[in-house]
Amino acid sequence: MKLLIAENYEALSKEAARVVAQVVAAKPTAVLGLATGSTPIGMYRELARLHREEGVDFSRVMTFNLDEYVGLPPHHPQSYRTFMQEHFFRHVNIPLEQTNIPRGDAPDLQAECRRYEEAIAAAGGIDIQVLGIGRNGHIGFNEPGSDAETTTRVVKLAQSTIKANARFFDSIDEVPTKAVSMGIKTILAAKRILLLASGEAKAEAVRRMLEGERTPDVPASLLQLHPDVTVIVDKDAAALL
Ligand code: GLP
Repeated sequence: MKLLIAENYEALSKEAARVVAQVVAAKPTAVLGLATGSTPIGMYRELARLHREEGVDFSRVMTFNLDEYVGLPPHHPQSYRTFMQEHFFRHVNIPLEQTNIPRGDAPDLQAECRRYEEAIAAAGGIDIQVLGIGRNGHIGFNEPGSDAETTTRVVKLAQSTIKANARFFDSIDEVPTKAVSMGIKTILAAKRILLLASGEAKAEAVRRMLEGERTPDVPASLLQLHPDVTVIVDKDAAALL
């Protein structure tokens, strides 16, 4: 795995945006795998700026997000669909119908998971998958215990994840307890992976991902199996390396 240590969050965000913009410049029909969470917000802001000021063109790009909360309809303020609209899609020229996020409110969730995997395959696979990392080493919503054979499925969120994400909801009781998430196999099938981590709360997870044993107990450590991973961290997240 290739490691880049950025001076701070701002520099990390710019570098991440540069990597994604390069992929889009080289292939205007690129398929982007996207992530939510606080970490990629700066990258989305920078990509929007590159679109506005330097004409980076998203009109033929297709996107697939990693995950969505079970039970939240797309227009719910805390859904990942709403997050993506607000932080990225509405700031660039990507047609809505080229953006994909699992439907957490689908009546048949098993069918939705199958449909999502098929849609990724039909698009020709993901060219670059952007990832954040949870404090417990989760990627997407693949909590500890998720092995390298997992595909898109309904997952139960770890209590620590529910707690960490409670900050976006009015109370912890409102945080969904399940999600639809791409699996580790889905993520590893991407041609290239870009993982971002910022802040000292992520330092231990970053250390275990890069230097620890490859184990489903730390799902991000399974990225060691992939031949083309770039990890961009800021100094705080690199503190334990
Ligand atoms: C959530 C998301 C992950 C994300 C993680 C870390 O649980 N499903 O994709 O990487 O949180 O989020 P943050 O970047 O806010 O620390």
